[in-house]
Amino acid sequence: MTSITMTVNGREVSADAEDRTLLVEFLRDNLGLTGTHVGCDTSQCGACVVHIDGAAVKACTMLAAQAAGSDVTTIEGLAGGGELHPVQKAFHENHGLQCGFCTPGMIMAATEMINRHGASLDEKMVRAELDGNICRCTGYHNIVKSILAAAAEMGGAQQAAE
Ligand code: FES
Repeated sequence: MTSITMTVNGREVSADAEDRTLLVEFLRDNLGLTGTHVGCDTSQCGACVVHIDGAAVKACTMLAAQAAGSDVTTIEGLAGGGELHPVQKAFHENHGLQCGFCTPGMIMAATEMINRHGASLDEKMVRAELDGNICRCTGYHNIVKSILAAAAEMGGAQQAAE
């Protein structure tokens, strides 16, 4: 066991974990942040995406120890001051989900995508960038629509075709 310290959702946390503990296990099992989902064990689905120092990362692809000292944001940390984040709001308003299992990873990937591309984001780019996130219900149309609506709200992007 090793004591691992990192900042999660703005709060410094420490917990003991085995060297082999994945970051996604550390978040879910040690910290109780179960909003980060596990949809596979092969780095395929993207349900486990979190932000590490601002970058979108699949939390099943790295060890918790590798994230020590980092600034981690999970879906639980996205909303602030009792208000949904614009991306969360856009998913809600555009019904960007079906079963909802992929939603946390989609929203974390989308937020980073919007932060990175800003106003240059368009539908083709969103679809290409979502390559690493799988929706098992195949509800991609409204997910893409939600992301473009959020991008427009956050600073301008082209709206999705109806
Ligand atoms: Fe990490 Fe599927 S659980 S990519």
